[in-house]
Amino acid sequence: MNTVMFHDHGYEYQYLPPVAGDKRLLVLLHGTGGDENSLIELGRLMDPNAGILSPRGKSSEEGVNRFFRRHEEGVFDEEDLKEKAEDLADFIAHVTDHHYFEEVIAVGYSNGANIALAILLLHPEVLNGVLALRGMLPIHPSHLPDLSEKHVLLLSGKDDTIIPRSGVEALVELLEKGNAILHHEWLPTGHNLMRRDIEDAASWLAGRAATG
Ligand code: MLT
Repeated sequence: MNTVMFHDHGYEYQYLPPVAGDKRLLVLLHGTGGDENSLIELGRLMDPNAGILSPRGKSSEEGVNRFFRRHEEGVFDEEDLKEKAEDLADFIAHVTDHHYFEEVIAVGYSNGANIALAILLLHPEVLNGVLALRGMLPIHPSHLPDLSEKHVLLLSGKDDTIIPRSGVEALVELLEKGNAILHHEWLPTGHNLMRRDIEDAASWLAGRAATG
């Protein structure tokens, strides 16, 4: 697969156009150690028709790609996260406008889920929804936006040793407070993805395509 450099925003990314007439964009956001290619196959399995934008995280932890810095596992550098969320939100908005997309869903795994959720909380105008695979509350926003038109599918692993249950519960509480249209499941697995993730994501996305 060819990787192209988007010079305005400094991202390396993959872009796959949608099938004709589909106005939906999936923004695929990889986990720690992934890159712009990691989630393409998964994204296509979840939805074969939507456009795909898959950027590489700009942060590096000893050579390992991430979307933002952390002090230690599960303890995030919120200032860095704010900057990186704004930068990525700008990039998403640019691509959305350029290709006339009408619905934008961020699909993130782990570190990618956490930046997707940060964008939803800090820059909700650039996303219609988030599909968060193993996400948690990434940031404590000073102001909670109205999320009543935002769709969120949160798939958590009940034996996840990387994402603390308290972080998942804090996220659910905040999303409910903001009136997000939330569907949350605890899957019988850990941090790794399982077939159920793909199946549940695919049916959630298909429901969005039918109603959106
Ligand atoms: C994060 O750093 O965003 C989470 O702890 C998960 C991960 O290790 O990527």
